[in-house]
Amino acid sequence: MAFTIRLLLFSSMFLLPVSVLAQTNGSIAVGASLTATAEGNSSSSWLSPSGDFAFGFWPLGNNDLFLLSIWYAKIPDRTVVWYANGDNEAAVAPKGSTVNLTANSGLVLKSPQGEELWKSETSVGVVANGVMNDTGNFVLQDSNSKSLWETFNNHTDTMLPGQTFERSGKLLSRQSETNYSKGRFQLLFQEDGNLVISTINLPTQFPNEPYYATHTTNGTVAGSEGKELVFNVSGYLYVLSENGGKSNVAVGDAVSARDNYIRATLNFDGIFAQYYYPKNSTGNVSWNLLWSEPDDICRSQPETSGVGICGYNSICTLKEDKRPTCECPTGFSLLDPNYPYGGCKPDFIQGCEEDELSGTKDLYDVEVLTNVDWPISDYIELKPFTAEKCNESCFQDCLCAVATFSSETCLKKKLPLSNGRVDMSLNSKAFIKVRKDNSTLQFPPMPNPDDKKTKKKSSNTLIRVESIILAASIFVSFMFCAAACLGFFFVFRKKHVRSVENILDSNLHSFSYQELQEATNGFTEELGRGAFGVVYKGTIQIGSGVQVAVKKLNGVIQDGEKEFKTELRVIGKTHHKNLVCLVGYCDEGQHRLLVYEFLSKGTLASFLFADTKPSWTQRIEIACGVAKGLLYLHEECSTQVIHCDIKPQNILLDDYYTARISDFGLAKLLMINQSKTHTAIRGTKGYVAPEWFSNMPITAKVDVYSFGVVLLEIIYCRRSVDADNSREERAILTDWVYDCYRGGMLDAVLVLDNEVQALDDRMKPEKLVMIGIWCIQDDPSLRPTMRKVVQMLEGVVEVHVPPCPSSHTTRTG
Ligand SMILES: *[C@@H]1O[C@H](CO)[C@@H](O)[C@H](O)[C@H]1NC(C)=O
Ligand SMILES: *[C@@H]1O[C@H](CO)[C@@H](O)[C@H](O)[C@H]1NC(C)=O
Ligand SMILES: *[C@@H]1O[C@H](CO)[C@@H](O)[C@H](O)[C@H]1NC(C)=O
Ligand SMILES: *[C@@H]1O[C@H](CO)[C@@H](O)[C@H](O)[C@H]1NC(C)=O
Ligand SMILES: *[C@@H]1O[C@H](CO)[C@@H](O)[C@H](O)[C@H]1NC(C)=O
Ligand SMILES: *[C@@H]1O[C@H](CO)[C@@H](O)[C@H](O)[C@H]1NC(C)=O
Ligand SMILES: *[C@@H]1O[C@H](CO)[C@@H](O)[C@H](O)[C@H]1NC(C)=O
Ligand SMILES: *[C@@H]1O[C@H](CO)[C@@H](O)[C@H](O)[C@H]1NC(C)=O
Ligand SMILES: *[C@@H]1O[C@H](CO)[C@@H](O)[C@H](O)[C@H]1NC(C)=O
Ligand SMILES: *[C@@H]1O[C@H](CO)[C@@H](O)[C@H](O)[C@H]1NC(C)=O
Ligand SMILES: *[C@@H]1O[C@H](CO)[C@@H](O)[C@H](O)[C@H]1NC(C)=O
Ligand SMILES: *[C@@H]1O[C@H](CO)[C@@H](O)[C@H](O)[C@H]1NC(C)=O
Repeated sequence: MAFTIRLLLFSSMFLLPVSVLAQTNGSIAVGASLTATAEGNSSSSWLSPSGDFAFGFWPLGNNDLFLLSIWYAKIPDRTVVWYANGDNEAAVAPKGSTVNLTANSGLVLKSPQGEELWKSETSVGVVANGVMNDTGNFVLQDSNSKSLWETFNNHTDTMLPGQTFERSGKLLSRQSETNYSKGRFQLLFQEDGNLVISTINLPTQFPNEPYYATHTTNGTVAGSEGKELVFNVSGYLYVLSENGGKSNVAVGDAVSARDNYIRATLNFDGIFAQYYYPKNSTGNVSWNLLWSEPDDICRSQPETSGVGICGYNSICTLKEDKRPTCECPTGFSLLDPNYPYGGCKPDFIQGCEEDELSGTKDLYDVEVLTNVDWPISDYIELKPFTAEKCNESCFQDCLCAVATFSSETCLKKKLPLSNGRVDMSLNSKAFIKVRKDNSTLQFPPMPNPDDKKTKKKSSNTLIRVESIILAASIFVSFMFCAAACLGFFFVFRKKHVRSVENILDSNLHSFSYQELQEATNGFTEELGRGAFGVVYKGTIQIGSGVQVAVKKLNGVIQDGEKEFKTELRVIGKTHHKNLVCLVGYCDEGQHRLLVYEFLSKGTLASFLFADTKPSWTQRIEIACGVAKGLLYLHEECSTQVIHCDIKPQNILLDDYYTARISDFGLAKLLMINQSKTHTAIRGTKGYVAPEWFSNMPITAKVDVYSFGVVLLEIIYCRRSVDADNSREERAILTDWVYDCYRGGMLDAVLVLDNEVQALDDRMKPEKLVMIGIWCIQDDPSLRPTMRKVVQMLEGVVEVHVPPCPSSHTTRTG
């Protein structure tokens, strides 16, 4: 019963807008009006001819307030692309408000009491009709169909394909996903042709120094300054310069505008991003991210000015999806409790007079934050210093609010703290003073505080400090390591409090050789052997014991210790669900070992080449996982990582058969500065790209090649080189597949069981074979990027017919 009702509700959500679709040609006559009533009343919106966009009243929360806006009418994800605004405030209308299309004033929004809330200020001319265009533009026209006013020229926070900005055009972020009031971020196409994003100093409109810019100004070449910001109908967003040049706002392939809804939005947290949403989708889809700028918003705010992304006294942390979160330090709270990007205020009064008045030195607790900085609040630099002296110096200085310490340098900072951010590259500590008791500021402390109370207070303090460490450790783990590792850190933290700092500093635990020897029971249980060393199973004795895989590196590490640490830091910073998580290392004498999480289901090789074939769906999921992991290594890490040895033996499977790439980052570590002679060829026969054998530079495309081979192996469940194969022409998988593909004989070689035949297009083997052939092109420039590969696998870009992988007639065996 309940299910039926839900189903009805659900389907009516889809059907209502569509049911009125037939009656519209998008044209709205003068005199027409809409009333703000409950959602779903067909009279409260006007649809575009295709039914893709609707103009009308959008209910906010509880259906008592409405927003005059434009939204996507066909998709269940509620996404507003324009909303009525005046003086950059959203025009919120109470229930029962009306909007009329009038000849002289264009759109007029009135409250039920007849008060005018908003109107479109049309330029001179008499409105003949309005048009809700299929592009998402609502246009007021005169009798000659000349545009008098349009929403494409009345910007809010979103750009749509077909929309163009002249100089001084801008987008303003909203307050939050659901609150359309003006937020703190602005994207401005400046008079000098530069496209910039900055925070603004509310309540003034003053923009701070930009944290993102296209730098499309006059520069050295006359005519290179931007003329227009163009979002063309194919979904490309670029700055068009005076001399006709195009400069893309972000790198990234476009998706088909025919098959997807596309928008670019300045999000409420200051991230400018392009999204797409597959049209005609029936499954569980939502908005997908195509690109976002800037890459690390917390660190991209210039250090010379501005209050920072999160406002004063706040701390900006980059989440895994590259969106920022803002948090107040302990003892501080949000200025506006509903607006996390608006900054924090101290919950206590701090100052020399106040400190003096209370007549005691023991006013503050000091809390320690790791790798947090407020770069432009310094008033003095002390050097050389120790961490203890730094803390002490700030503690005794009534002007000092916080001091940061790293590599012998102590920086004392005053309130308000600005530009707060977490920056893992700092390797610093921040000592922040938090007043112990803020309620008795005007009075001297109580003469005889009874013992019980003092005790309670100090235990409170302890808990607070503890919780900060806890919070910091959770937070660091979140940033960098998978949930598995989180558990590990967690347990570890409890047992060895001293080690915590160790982990926090580098995010990796440093083990002694002895510890690992014990953990692996003297290196007895071997899990596997690879180019870099032997892997042993082990158990770290914390809590109920955590299983790990310990890899003993056998290569010679050039440049010794420093290089090892640098590379470890890079590996330690990677975090992706398709990568194996590094937990720690040992660097003792000539012993170099890496400690990884233990994955229960072994390698892809043993899974794929076993007697029973895994299911097609499972295999495709694995292929997608590998592709995403590689995409992350190539494009989404702070330092690009080229794997150089992608093969099924290096892909592990976790409990849920999720593909997890291992051994990444090691190629560089062990091969530093080695020339590309044959002796130095990385990788494994059958998987290596041809550029290893030629003079071409080694780029991320070598991994694309190896991925292509692995993809074909996954499709066919056979090894790339099968020397035992009785038929010689079948020995090299890549050659054989292309021959079959060219000969139209794919079906003959694919074992088409029922499962495969029942699949939708996205998963069709032919398509996957084509992707594989694209990846194994001899010419690296013809191979797609991993991003493109992922998009092809996901079906968001079309897969074209691939050329012959080999430019020469003979292919090397
Ligand atoms: C749209 O339909 C209305 C009547 O429903 C008609 O008056 C108007 O001319 C049509 N406009 C176009 C552009 O076809
Ligand atoms: C909204 O729909 C109801 C019936 O569902 C109808 O009685 C009412 O007139 C509609 N409102 C407007 C303003 O047309
Ligand atoms: C949008 O139009 C309204 C009414 O004409 C005006 O008050 C507002 O400033 C415009 N906004 C922009 C960004 O042009
Ligand atoms: C707006 O439309 C309503 C309903 O059609 C009408 O009662 C009202 O007079 C109109 N107001 C104006 C200013 O045209
Ligand atoms: C209306 O949409 C069509 C395509 O649907 C487009 O060609 C035209 O330029 C749009 N008109 C305006 C004024 O945006
Ligand atoms: C949106 O935020 C502003 C400022 O914080 C607040 O005044 C307003 O009430 C909020 N609006 C809604 C609908 O929550
Ligand atoms: C760019 O430079 C040229 C000459 O170098 C000048 O004529 C032009 O006005 C400049 N444009 C802008 C937008 O400053
Ligand atoms: C949009 O821009 C891209 C990149 O400049 C270009 O390839 C494409 O042809 C353009 N589309 C249209 C419809 O102009
Ligand atoms: C979406 O569906 C409509 C009608 O059902 C059809 O005309 C259109 O071609 C479809 N578009 C795509 C991309 O499949
Ligand atoms: C839809 O997908 C999201 C994440 O992709 C998931 O959290 C959600 O449970 C899915 N919903 C359904 C009904 O499958
Ligand atoms: C004192 O601190 C508590 C919490 O730490 C806070 O709730 C309270 O508002 C503060 N009092 C003053 C006067 O700031
Ligand atoms: C900082 O200095 C204060 C005052 O001497 C002391 O109570 C506190 O324990 C120190 N904290 C750290 C982390 O060194």
